[in-house]
Amino acid sequence: MKILVVGGGGREHAIVWKLAQSPRVKKLYCAPGNGGISKIAECIPVKATDIDGITAFALNNGIDMVMVAPDDPLAAGMVDALEAKGVRAFGPRKNAAFLESSKAFSKGIMKKYSIPTAKYEVFEDSGRAIEYLRYQDFPIVVKADGLALGKGVIIAQGFDQAQEAVNSIMSDKVFGKAGDKLVIEEFLHGPEVSILAFTDGKTVVPMVSSQDHKRAYDDDKGPNTGGMGTFSPSRIYTPEMAEYCMGNIYKPTIDAMNKENRKFKGVLYFGLIITPEGPKVLEYNARFGDPETQVVLPRLKNDLVDIFDAVIDEKLASLNIEWDNNAAVCVIMASGGYPEKYATGFEITGIEASEKECGVTEFHAGTKYDGGKLLTSGGRVLGVTAVAPTLEDARTKAYKGVGKISFKDMHCRKDIGVKRN
Ligand code: AMP
Ligand code: GLY
Repeated sequence: MKILVVGGGGREHAIVWKLAQSPRVKKLYCAPGNGGISKIAECIPVKATDIDGITAFALNNGIDMVMVAPDDPLAAGMVDALEAKGVRAFGPRKNAAFLESSKAFSKGIMKKYSIPTAKYEVFEDSGRAIEYLRYQDFPIVVKADGLALGKGVIIAQGFDQAQEAVNSIMSDKVFGKAGDKLVIEEFLHGPEVSILAFTDGKTVVPMVSSQDHKRAYDDDKGPNTGGMGTFSPSRIYTPEMAEYCMGNIYKPTIDAMNKENRKFKGVLYFGLIITPEGPKVLEYNARFGDPETQVVLPRLKNDLVDIFDAVIDEKLASLNIEWDNNAAVCVIMASGGYPEKYATGFEITGIEASEKECGVTEFHAGTKYDGGKLLTSGGRVLGVTAVAPTLEDARTKAYKGVGKISFKDMHCRKDIGVKRN
């Protein structure tokens, strides 16, 4: 088979890496890909959001399956466009991806179908939102309705900060049209767990659990980032919790989407917060998470192509999906200054030694080759992933791997995988 993966970060590298292990795959393409991906797939210079470009490439090159990984093209209807031309595509259609691309919609689904989540109100008018805020307890959470590069959520400690958030989202439109509506919701306390699940709209199969470290510095200090590291499994997600979530969250969400005539097929990501009252949904993502995928896929025993096929053909119930009992830890090596200002273009050395001597796998997030040299090209540069019998072993192994790699101004957290809650 010829498969095209759309996207170019660490998540896409992990997906391409897993697909490359399938005996069913003859040729892999990635658009646009990155330095690491170019070693195992042919990278093509088409933007991940270019629906016409991706469709034309798939048609002209006899692509058997297109896997759309990022949120933007899913929200814009890339899967619908590919299907309309007869191309097999993995990922939710636009009307189902709406579960991620509109927070007002996803909150409405949860309310209508009694899926546990934070209490909330939706506003289309900044004056009303600010009036409402006057009578609330703080902290409170202000969220832009649409996709905002992961920056559309503001946890406001007091009225002034909340008002400022409303004004910047709704009046100054810092996130553009994503801020036409906003959600104001109750602040929930508790640790967060990420559950990615395969679903064909009939059956939902949760993958192994993982946890993300979102803040830039150790001990969860500093600004929020796209993720500084992940580990799997979570220490707090028990089998009882998994059973509760299947009955009260996962299955009801799939059923709700069917009732709304928005059948969800692809990967559905449940961002859970484990409150004293039990797990609640913080957010849905209509795709694999990044960097969760970098610790989840290395534990998958099945051929990923078989799973993608079963999802597309709505035969997921016929597959037995199996996981490795080993734990996995992924440490992100970032450019100094990320997530704010940072410089790129620095040479990266030590990757081969790290892989050979430490047995780790590097998933590239922001790298590119230039004249035979591997250079940094983004905020998050590499995800160094280790698999070992325990989380502690995987952690030690991952940091050994990190120690072999260098580039100028490298920043990574030293406590990935330590989190106990
Ligand atoms: P979201 O994009 O909705 O997942 O929000 C991003 C992050 O903001 C989450 O991963 C949480 O860390 C935090 N967050 C969002 N909603 C809430 C909430 N209701 N209570 C506490 N933290 C929240
Ligand atoms: N790790 C969170 C996300 O992929 O959105």
